[in-house]
Amino acid sequence: KRVAVLISGRGSNMTALIEAARADGYPAEIALVVSNVPGAGGLEKAASEGIETTTVDHRGRGSRQAFEEELDRTIRAKDIDLICLAGFMRILTPWFIERWHDRILNIHPALLPSFKGLDTHARALAEGCLIHGATVHFVRSEMDAGPIIVQGAVPVMDGDDAVTLAARVLTVEHKIYPQALALVASERTSVEGMRVRTGVEGS
Ligand code: GRF
Repeated sequence: KRVAVLISGRGSNMTALIEAARADGYPAEIALVVSNVPGAGGLEKAASEGIETTTVDHRGRGSRQAFEEELDRTIRAKDIDLICLAGFMRILTPWFIERWHDRILNIHPALLPSFKGLDTHARALAEGCLIHGATVHFVRSEMDAGPIIVQGAVPVMDGDDAVTLAARVLTVEHKIYPQALALVASERTSVEGMRVRTGVEGS
C-alpha cells in the first residue's frame, strides 16, 4: 500500500513511520509527505530520508474546500491508498473524509474517548489520571472520534509535568503508529460501527 503522511510540524511520528516502513515485509511504503505549513521541520527530515515531499499551503485559498480539493488532487496524483495524519493541524471537512472513508488514520496523544482536542497532557494531569497514552484511529468527521485501531498506555508518575508526560507518551506514539498502519495496510482490519476487528485475513 502507498501511504501519504500529512504533517504540520516537526514530524517525529512521520519519521517513525518512515523508519518502520523500511523493514523487510512491512506492508506499506511512505510514498509522499505533505505539509500544509511551508518550511515545517518534518519536510526537510523526510527529504533527507529520500521521500518525496510537497507543501499545500492552506492560506491564500478561497475556502477550506479549495484547499482540500488541491490536497486531494496532490495525493491522488501519486496513487496513494492510505493517508496518515501525523501532527496535521487542520480540521478536514466531511467532503474530504468521506472521499477517503476508512483510509485516513490519525494519532491522538490521549486514550480516546478521553481528552479529545488540545492540551491533552495538562488536562490528564489536572484530572489526576494515573494512566495516560495515545490512540491511533480511523478519522471521522467528528474531531478525534472514529474507530480505534491501536492504543498504548503509560503511567503518570509523581512529579510529572506536561512536558515529561508528553515525552513518555511520544515514545508510545512512535511504537503504535507503525503497528496500526501495518494492521490496516495488510488488510487485517475490518470496521464494524465503532469496532475495529483485527486478525481478519484479506477482506
Ligand atoms: C503528536 O503528539 C501527535 O499525537 C499529535 O501531534 C503531535 C505531533 O508530533 N497529533 P510530531 O509532529 O509527530 O512529532
